[in-house]
Amino acid sequence: METLPKKYLILTYGCQMNVHESEKLAGILEDNGYLPCTDATQADIVVFNTCAIRENAEQKIFGNIGELKNIKLANPNMLIAVGGCMSQQKNYADEIMKRYPYVDIVFGTHNLADFENLLKKRKETGKRISETTEDETIALRDKLNISRTSGVNAWVNIMYGCNNFCTYCIVPYVRGREISRPEVDIISEIKKLLSEGYKQITLLGQNVNSYSGKDEEGKEVSFAKLLFDIDNLDGKFRIRFMTSHPRDLSSDVIDVIANSKHICHGIHLPVQSGSDRVLKSMNRHYDIKRYNSLVDEIRAKISDSELTTDIIVGFPGETEEDFKATLDVMRKAEYMQIFGFIYSKRKGTPAEKMENQIDKKTKKERLSRLLTLKNDIINAKTAKMLNQTYEVLVESVDEQKGLLYGSLDSGKTISFKGTKNCLGEFVMVKVIQVKKSVIYGELVDNTAMKTFKEKNYKLPVEVSILPSGEKNMKILRENKQNKKLECDKKSKK
Ligand code: 5AD
Ligand code: SF4
Repeated sequence: METLPKKYLILTYGCQMNVHESEKLAGILEDNGYLPCTDATQADIVVFNTCAIRENAEQKIFGNIGELKNIKLANPNMLIAVGGCMSQQKNYADEIMKRYPYVDIVFGTHNLADFENLLKKRKETGKRISETTEDETIALRDKLNISRTSGVNAWVNIMYGCNNFCTYCIVPYVRGREISRPEVDIISEIKKLLSEGYKQITLLGQNVNSYSGKDEEGKEVSFAKLLFDIDNLDGKFRIRFMTSHPRDLSSDVIDVIANSKHICHGIHLPVQSGSDRVLKSMNRHYDIKRYNSLVDEIRAKISDSELTTDIIVGFPGETEEDFKATLDVMRKAEYMQIFGFIYSKRKGTPAEKMENQIDKKTKKERLSRLLTLKNDIINAKTAKMLNQTYEVLVESVDEQKGLLYGSLDSGKTISFKGTKNCLGEFVMVKVIQVKKSVIYGELVDNTAMKTFKEKNYKLPVEVSILPSGEKNMKILRENKQNKKLECDKKSKK
């Protein structure tokens, strides 16, 4: 009798680094005969690739692991693995093993390349496995087969880990110290990706500006040199990178971007706070004068540059005055996008122990003021885009609506009418409608569309724990639970 292929489901939480690492996990599973599926009820293995950056990410993941209990009861042969940043945190692996006895494998960030062996061990011994090493041979991670599912976009690690120890951040504890990949490995990976038709290469690292790899002769390669060398590759493509640290973004890097053919002028430069006092307490190693001078230098050298940023509100000790300084930076930098976060205490980080933790209400109120200003800034910038024409990379398609979605050099998304064969093409699009921060356009040259060939990109698919028809049921259940919690609270009073 023919056996059906086994199916896998990967649930990814958090940043682009995790999205890419899920592509590596998918590669391992596909090498082992598994095929992808879109919900846990069809899956033979469900892998959680977790995030630990803020408490709410963790709560969501714990809730989602809890939801798998009934699915596992219905299908006891299904395997469940929980990996990534949350698992790597001190004592978390034990906690997950204890709290969720139906989880089969817990593995840390440094066990990714070993996942195939963990899977085999679980199947051979029938015993539950928990492995979170701190010693990893990074070269092994670089050798993994990657099952890319990000359409025209390809993520490329240039380095792993972080040495910065910003006082709020869990990343250095769960991803270890910085290790830069050799330049030749990065360049050959990118050359291959370009030959396969990928159009947008995003270089990944927690602090890409401190990249310090080696060339073939063993000579040190800076981030500026790496960017320069990638920019010299042939073809029509875009280069992006994330994330930059304002302390380490050098004039050399800005010069390379300014003179490049392929590097996007949209730059993500997390400021975190506008107050020197708070920045010092965050251990960020720059002050606002330095940050603003970087912004000025970028604007002067790259006239069409667009900045985006991350901001934390409610860091311990943040006063109203400190917060107002953050709003001032936002006004000055005129960001194209702002990711605002409420400070979340992370176990084992220095900020966890700081006095003057800010109360929840103040944090929420500050985030809401930040979001109001953010919308004002972004909407005003977007309004100026009406009737302008931009080069757009077509990244996805909604065939039913006949709509294409693409990105501008700045990273901003635009939608416009078009056909599927435009995927992966660079086209000129005029902005014809602006609704708050959302832009709609039209192709400048409709005839060019007819000449594009259809290509085979693997686009991201939406996955979930329950089949799509049952999502409403899930929401109903969540509501019921919330009501129960509210009742519980009332009855305790
Ligand atoms: N609380 C809130 N936001 C955080 N970030 C990192 N750690 C925390 C935390 N403990 C934010 C920073 C970072 C982004 C990826 O997440 O702004 O740049
Ligand atoms: Fe976290 Fe700071 Fe490292 Fe970014 S640079 S990952 S915020 S410690």
